[in-house]
Amino acid sequence: MVNHTLCSWHGLCQLYGVLLTYKLCKLVSLLLTNLQSYEQTELRTNRVTKLRSQDVHIIAVVNGKGGSAKTTTSVNLAAILAEKSKVLLVDADPQGSATWWAERNERDFELSKETDTNELLKLKKVKGFDFIIVDTPPALHFEALQITIDAADFVLLPSPPAPMDLQALIETVQASIMPANVKFRVLLTRVDPRSLGKALDAQQALMQGGIPAFNGFVRAYAVHEQAVLDGIPITQVRGKIAREAEGDYRRVADELLREVNTHG
Ligand SMILES: Nc1ncnc2c1ncn2[C@@H]1O[C@H](COP(=O)(O)OP(=O)(O)O)[C@@H](O)[C@H]1O
Ligand SMILES: [Mg+2]
Repeated sequence: MVNHTLCSWHGLCQLYGVLLTYKLCKLVSLLLTNLQSYEQTELRTNRVTKLRSQDVHIIAVVNGKGGSAKTTTSVNLAAILAEKSKVLLVDADPQGSATWWAERNERDFELSKETDTNELLKLKKVKGFDFIIVDTPPALHFEALQITIDAADFVLLPSPPAPMDLQALIETVQASIMPANVKFRVLLTRVDPRSLGKALDAQQALMQGGIPAFNGFVRAYAVHEQAVLDGIPITQVRGKIAREAEGDYRRVADELLREVNTHG
């Protein structure tokens, strides 16, 4: 009886030992597989990053309405991105505001005034830059605008958060952006620093309507007008308020970089 019990006890231990070894083996093989796929992912990620770093990202700054801060956004983002990348700012607006602003001083980005549709058609072939930012005219049914949107990898739509401005923006999105099947985001600009709640409400309303918006927004500060007058980006304007204004555009630039790098 004792022998029998000992025997079955011994058998159980053996069985348990086999199970334990089996489980250990599985665990080790699982760990090895994970490690291998992790290494492969790392390799893939490195490769993608390398490939992407050679890409030119074309960013079109668009809104059918004037005064929505297209030029202000184009010039400031060009200056901020140019700190670490090669940037070309294309002024596709016949009014030439970006050119007038940026050509008066030395800058870290290149500038080209280009409203000729035949030239804009060649945008995708331009090499030697990390970013091409295109400032566009405030006209929806303008051939040059459509060509730019078709060439763009990303469309940035600046707009003040007021209901009438947002209405015009929704029309722009529906008429020109959605049919082009291009990635886009709305950037709320000229936001009254005393009523930031309005911007947050506008962001939510846009997102609920399926229109993506930048988390960051650009507050209205008179220093932005000063920057235009002096022909310099906001990064070069002196003073405490200018640093706040610069911070707004830096946050937007960071978000933009994440967006273009995440989604290719
Ligand atoms: N965040 C801001 N705060 C204050 N003024 C601004 C701001 N953004 C733009 N502006 C001013 O608003 C006006 C229109 O801006 P602009 O960039 O020329 O718009 P758009 O190119 O869409 O016509 C300009 O006088 C500009 O200095
Ligand atoms: Mg403009």
